[in-house]
Amino acid sequence: MNTLIELKNITKTFDDQQVLKGINLKINENEFLTLLGPSGCGKTTTLRIIAGFDEADSGELLFDGIEISKLPPYKREVNTVFQKYALFPHLNVAENIAFGLNIKKTDKTVVVQKVEKMLELVGLSGFEKRDVTSLSGGQQQRVAIARALINEPKVLLLDEPLGALDARLRKEMQTELKKIQKEVGITFIYVTHDQEEALSMSDTVVVMNDGYIQQIGTPTDVYNEPENRFVASFIGESNIIKGTMIRDCLVSFDGFEFECVDKGFKENEEIEVVLRPEDIDIVKPENAKIKGTVESVVFKGVHYEIMVRTELRSYMIHTTDFFEVGLDVGLTFGPEDIHVMWKMV
Ligand SMILES: Nc1ncnc2c1ncn2[C@@H]1O[C@H](COP(=O)(O)OP(=O)(O)OP(=O)(O)O)[C@@H](O)[C@H]1O
Ligand SMILES: [Mg+2]
Repeated sequence: MNTLIELKNITKTFDDQQVLKGINLKINENEFLTLLGPSGCGKTTTLRIIAGFDEADSGELLFDGIEISKLPPYKREVNTVFQKYALFPHLNVAENIAFGLNIKKTDKTVVVQKVEKMLELVGLSGFEKRDVTSLSGGQQQRVAIARALINEPKVLLLDEPLGALDARLRKEMQTELKKIQKEVGITFIYVTHDQEEALSMSDTVVVMNDGYIQQIGTPTDVYNEPENRFVASFIGESNIIKGTMIRDCLVSFDGFEFECVDKGFKENEEIEVVLRPEDIDIVKPENAKIKGTVESVVFKGVHYEIMVRTELRSYMIHTTDFFEVGLDVGLTFGPEDIHVMWKMV
């Protein structure tokens, strides 16, 4: 895949607060890439720098290999969709979508054709004459997406575009957006603080915290192989345990040694281990190294969330089997269920 946008060591400071501390990122053609992280970590700032609404203090911003930091926003082949739809209330649906083309004095028949195509793309055929203020939140956001895409940008930037929608509509629009991205075949850079949204839509997830990129990977990579405690705890629920990497494929934690599949750490390096709640099995105590007592059981709709108290800690386990509080149990997991991470300083 070809790199379309490259950020090299981008930094940005607002009022003495450094909000981007050296961002390095390559974004490919046709990629659905999501910036994911908690509030204030620098997602919107990164997006605004790519769009040209803000300028980095240092670093390089390349588009197709050309430095564009000084290029004004309207000259970049990029369009943005915000959480607030920012539609023009005095214009109808078709006029809102056609806005960019009308400014460029595009031929009227071409405009009509393109608007029609866009309406079809976002599932709003027949809505041409509707007053935008009469549309639902989800429909308004579709208009905003059509209005951005009609300019045929190479990249669409979306900053929490579904943030204002209710849970059900959000899910529906997630599927829709992914479909639209596939259909138009351009790069989407998507911002969200919702890990489920990021994992379900993206080709690549960029996990950010406090002005740094913590990990870049596919949704399965960042979920199954989090590189550090921050990523592991931000993405899904986890048991995070301090341990020692004795040598390749052998790790020690909780007073026992376990085979694992991780390599490349120093001998006896201090590390942290992630065990996902769904990867731990509850067995008879005599069948396991780690023994404990069921501390609590909560039914979560599809599975039970069971806390097991061991000598040193509590483990969270997700299982469809029921175990009574107070029962003595053992915990087992396979080598591939143990995920070894760098220890955060
Ligand atoms: N124009 C500005 N002036 C001063 N501080 C700013 C400005 N824009 C952003 N910041 C600060 O920079 C930090 C990062 O902000 P940013 O908007 O990039 O975060 P975010 O990851 O998008 O968060 P959220 O999920 O809440 O939208 C925050 O502490 C914010 O207060
Ligand atoms: Mg933001």
